[in-house]
Amino acid sequence: MSRIHDALKRAEQERAASTGTHVEPAYAQPEVQNESMPARQVLADSRITSMSTVSPGVSGLTYEALLARCAQTEWNPDPRTMLFFGDSDRRAGAEEFRSLRSRLYQIREKMPLKRLLITSALPKDGKSFTAANLAQVMVRQHGRRALLIDCDLRKPGLHRPLGAAQSPGLAEYLLGECDEFAALQRGPMENLFFMAAGRSVPSAAELLANGRLQLLLQRVEHMFDWIILDTSPVVLVSDATLVAGVSDGVILVVRSGATPADLARRAREEFPDKMLLGVVLNGASPEHMAQSKYYYGYGYGYGYGYGYGHRPDEDKNSQA
Ligand SMILES: Nc1ncnc2c1ncn2[C@@H]1O[C@H](COP(=O)(O)OP(=O)(O)OP(=O)(O)O)[C@@H](O)[C@H]1O
Ligand SMILES: [Mg+2]
Repeated sequence: MSRIHDALKRAEQERAASTGTHVEPAYAQPEVQNESMPARQVLADSRITSMSTVSPGVSGLTYEALLARCAQTEWNPDPRTMLFFGDSDRRAGAEEFRSLRSRLYQIREKMPLKRLLITSALPKDGKSFTAANLAQVMVRQHGRRALLIDCDLRKPGLHRPLGAAQSPGLAEYLLGECDEFAALQRGPMENLFFMAAGRSVPSAAELLANGRLQLLLQRVEHMFDWIILDTSPVVLVSDATLVAGVSDGVILVVRSGATPADLARRAREEFPDKMLLGVVLNGASPEHMAQSKYYYGYGYGYGYGYGYGHRPDEDKNSQA
């Protein structure tokens, strides 16, 4: 009881402190509770905290405060590509996302893994499709919480398939114009939080490197099981490699029949081997998957490819 009481009190204090226009200064450092421990160590320990407990983490923020202060907004998810918002659990492609989820939990047994970066070589490979559906399938498991962030500041777009607002979002947070509560959105799916890219900005790389993305992740990560970071195409701009600096692992999306092999290879070379978790083969037909004798895979010696080809026997309207 007293823990709950403390948590409610803390939430109340945070709410009181937030009245007015509280803005974190740029480069502000998070409060580290255990001074004798390096911040990263404290963060690593907070990863193994059961997510159902009320843990203030390094920032002192609690999930209760997040629920209280982050407004629930109306989303209008695209039923053709957002696979887990409807009632059916048998949408084409859904099973592949469940397999991807299992694979990530297996990898997590071997290394600390929470912040997942999703990228690809080129535009339209399916990064945002993969990031959004992965976040959804994660929270389909009871009690699991996920935060999905659109880090593609050059071409904000992840809010569209979700039917969510574009701003305020990451850009406003990185500019120091709002705090995390204002930039986060809570939609119709329990335990799924979203930070849109925010308004278009001319200085995407500088903003992503200004230290506030790391600060954001440090402040909120103890409240989530997974943080999924959607990024820009890595062969065209350096933004994804900047975001990789604050991520635990990278998933590379390759679009079947579209991403040229040499560019997929170049994209892969942008990241250290140990960060590469695997490749999602997006848009492969079931026939192609069945015939494939090869697979893509990095890190831990396991490869996997996921095809999201249309299965004619299932949801006829879905292209996924
Ligand atoms: N497997 C799929 N089935 C159906 N539609 C898909 C699939 N993958 C991607 N799409 C659709 O293709 C379009 C491009 O995908 P998406 O936006 O995910 O690509 P992206 O890599 O994020 O592109 P960008 O770099 O421009 O942000 C979107 O309309 C998306 O819904
Ligand atoms: Mg995208």
